[in-house]
Amino acid sequence: MQSFRAAAVAVGTAVLTLAATAPVAASPHRSVTASAPTAATIASPSVTRIAGADRYAASAAASRAAFPTGTTPAVVYLVSGTSPWESFSATPAAVHQGGGVLLTRADGIPSSIAAELKRLAPRSIVVVGPSSTLSSTVLSQAKAYAPDVRRIAGTSRYRTAEALVRHAFPAGGTSRAWIATGRVWPDGLVAGAAAAAQRAPLLTVDGSATTLPGATVTLIEDLGITSITIAGGPAGVSRGIETQLQGILGAANVARASGADRYAAAARVNHLAFPDLAPGTAYVASGRDVVDGLAGAFLAGKKRRPLYLTVPYCVPAAVRPALAGPTTTRVTLLGGEGSVRSLVGTLEGCRSIVTASSRWVLVNKRNPLRPTSYVPAGLVVPNVAHHNNARLRSDAAAALTRMFSAARAEGAGRMAIASGYRSYSTQSSVYWNRVATHGRAYADQWIARPGHSEHQTGLGVDIAPVGTSSCSVHNCIGSTPQGAWLKRNAWRFGFVLRYESGYTPVTGYNSEPWHFRYVGTPLSTAYRKGGWHSYEQFLGEPAAPTY
Ligand code: DAL
Ligand code: ZN
Repeated sequence: MQSFRAAAVAVGTAVLTLAATAPVAASPHRSVTASAPTAATIASPSVTRIAGADRYAASAAASRAAFPTGTTPAVVYLVSGTSPWESFSATPAAVHQGGGVLLTRADGIPSSIAAELKRLAPRSIVVVGPSSTLSSTVLSQAKAYAPDVRRIAGTSRYRTAEALVRHAFPAGGTSRAWIATGRVWPDGLVAGAAAAAQRAPLLTVDGSATTLPGATVTLIEDLGITSITIAGGPAGVSRGIETQLQGILGAANVARASGADRYAAAARVNHLAFPDLAPGTAYVASGRDVVDGLAGAFLAGKKRRPLYLTVPYCVPAAVRPALAGPTTTRVTLLGGEGSVRSLVGTLEGCRSIVTASSRWVLVNKRNPLRPTSYVPAGLVVPNVAHHNNARLRSDAAAALTRMFSAARAEGAGRMAIASGYRSYSTQSSVYWNRVATHGRAYADQWIARPGHSEHQTGLGVDIAPVGTSSCSVHNCIGSTPQGAWLKRNAWRFGFVLRYESGYTPVTGYNSEPWHFRYVGTPLSTAYRKGGWHSYEQFLGEPAAPTY
């Protein structure tokens, strides 16, 4: 590759090496991320979304999907949009009765929900939880939409759950049940949908206790339950409760759906709930925030389809086989782009954001490289103009080479790498030199401390214009055709503009129109299409304004 180099000219103290302009063939260094081809090619599922301007509009959208024009639910359960605890058991209760679930504010019914209630015109409405969860105003407002309105509540979320189960499931009406803790939400949310799909009740319990209270045991006996599935691991529902249930029902009649994390546990719940799943829709909600799953859980249950949890920007390894497999012909994302990115719909598998060698690694003031002295493998000098033999990781180098060629072909002009990979000691020199000349506060606005720079990954690159009379160094690229082109087009080649104007409180750095970060085209495309402006926000990670 170096044979293309034609000339070297001095630029400031650096040496700029100009590459010949021969088109560059597809690089053998481009990393392959797709899995090996399999004998049976499975078509990608189609993707739909159920979302709204806020959680209530999203809830109304889920309701419209469940009850299209011409269908009327027997009952609507109103649950809190800000406290999920009573909703877990309400979901299968509502679905078993041929009904739906809508979220409401605690202090009154939002207009989007009021409009949906008016459209649905249910025969009855159940207001779920005590007045501390949903106020008397909600109860009285609900009376405008159904002739029969009642509140179902207990002295705790567990007693409310029991009351819901007793209300919706007459004794002898069901032989199986699900059980989940009411202390954390992911297990209860997913188990609620799974129980609803089986038209079975969900018992929401204090899973940290060593035994179930007598009232819950009596409920199990009264209903005639003969088998129970526990959702989640022993940290959710204790071994003691599992042993107690085995004593009541027989060991063979108690199953547990657990996994290494909430995503794996939810996948396991679905595996047990849907042993003979026909091809169809999989519902997918964020595992980081309960709200969108809350709005859509009853819809999944009503349709007898699985509800999976996902990382907002990629599909966890434990979930991907189900979504990529033959039982999923359509993925319905619950929530907007801010909740579940389009990358989930395209089944992009998760990569680490903490492993230094990962293409997706997040490096900022709050997230140092591990180890801070990390040295990437496979550094190459790209076949483009560059200063000081700047190197990049081979995957980033190949993409950058294509990007520079395209920029030139599209009339944006030539560019050079001003700075690519920096070792820990190089970053240290750059940082401490800036501290010496401008002081520490100033340096921290522009230069990462050693161990905290994307340049140390071999994936970060500073780009300078070439042949533009008004600007020949990276600092002024923002006002050149090259800078404008990069801002619009870098995503096509797998790069994101890392430090944008207006995002200093998030990234910790001033605007750097020259610093691009290679993340690969699936992520850069989703980043662009989703209108994101900081990598931290795209990943749903905390802002990193300071160390
Ligand atoms: N200028 C960027 C923040 C760095 O030093 O990595
Ligand atoms: Zn940089």
